[in-house]
Amino acid sequence: MRLFIDSANLDEIREAHSWGIISGVTTNPSLVAKEGADFHQRVRDICQVVQAPVSAEVTATEAPAMVEQGKRLADLDENVVVKLPITPAGLAACAALTALGIDTNVTLIFTANQALMASLAGARYVSPFVGRLDDIGQDGIQLVQTIRDVFDYSFMPEQRRAEIIAASIRHPVHIERAALAGSDIATCPFSVLKQLFRHPLTDAGIEKFLSDWKQANPQT
Ligand code: E4P
Repeated sequence: MRLFIDSANLDEIREAHSWGIISGVTTNPSLVAKEGADFHQRVRDICQVVQAPVSAEVTATEAPAMVEQGKRLADLDENVVVKLPITPAGLAACAALTALGIDTNVTLIFTANQALMASLAGARYVSPFVGRLDDIGQDGIQLVQTIRDVFDYSFMPEQRRAEIIAASIRHPVHIERAALAGSDIATCPFSVLKQLFRHPLTDAGIEKFLSDWKQANPQT
């Protein structure tokens, strides 16, 4: 499973990218609004840092306007992926943009049927929201597993199907479980990516190695 960072903050994206673990970036209107930056310029800047797929979401609600916004976003950089909500208009825009050779990420997926429709419409990625399902007492990871099964049963091995991005990740356990459920990608907030390093035995081990070294080499 690959890891994307779910952020529109350039410092976070630069730092996570420097660790060599990031294969892409997802943003959404809330994340961009938090930054207070010009949207198109921020998408360009992110693309400069990662040179990998960067999802940028449309804010129009009608298909023709979504397609126009999507084309303008795709013109910003060859790595831009147009993010669209799973609505009839969003799927129509997905089909139209796919026909133009523009990659899409269909978002706000909460059922396997929504994911299947998005894949049939040509989406490059589908984004089931794991944490938001957990928040309402449902099992977000089970949805990822069900989408994996539906895709594997519905398409011949050689047929193109969307890649699954486990989104709305809240903690490290979501990441492990998304991988075991067969997700292609997990998109994670910077705070969760940093948590992945943490283990008390790692910290204790580093402390011991350094103190043993210092004892044997007091002059260094
Ligand atoms: C995914 O693409 C979304 O940007 C994101 O994962 C939503 O996460 P949230 O539920 O924490 O807002």
